[in-house]
Amino acid sequence: MSIEKTFSIIKPNSTLDNNIGNIIAVFEKNGLRVSAAKFAKLSKEKAEGFYIEHKERPFFGELVNFMTSGPVLLMVLEGENAVAKNRELMGATNPANAAEGTIRKLYAKSVGENSVHGSDSHAAAEREIAYFFERNEVVNRF
Ligand code: CMP
Repeated sequence: MSIEKTFSIIKPNSTLDNNIGNIIAVFEKNGLRVSAAKFAKLSKEKAEGFYIEHKERPFFGELVNFMTSGPVLLMVLEGENAVAKNRELMGATNPANAAEGTIRKLYAKSVGENSVHGSDSHAAAEREIAYFFERNEVVNRF
């Protein structure tokens, strides 16, 4: 087992539905710790850059509109096998397919308004953390 970092976003539907605390509680009860966080409203440019791999997908415009429609909580999560653990806790991208008890089953509204983003690989976690956080902002221990 290794201690890893992964990247997580609580998306606008869940910040505006007052579910930040409920979602972080799922992480914390399951061995993930918030080791850095920023509350922000993303610019169009920042959101487009983050999701650049989806640029040609038909839902790209809708995705960027949604991600800039309200505040998001950007987080680094740390724990044993954090990348895989976070994906398990989030559930399937589409809440209609998400397992009982997962964050998306509990709080997501649709495949677009799906409450959380989480890195899908170690390489993505590194890239995504670097996209939003300076190295010295990612606090491990006080
Ligand atoms: P996320 O994990 O943030 O990564 C890409 C996002 O695109 C995904 O979550 C979904 O919210 C979104 N997405 C995927 N498929 C669709 C779709 N068919 N319509 C709208 N948004 C989608």
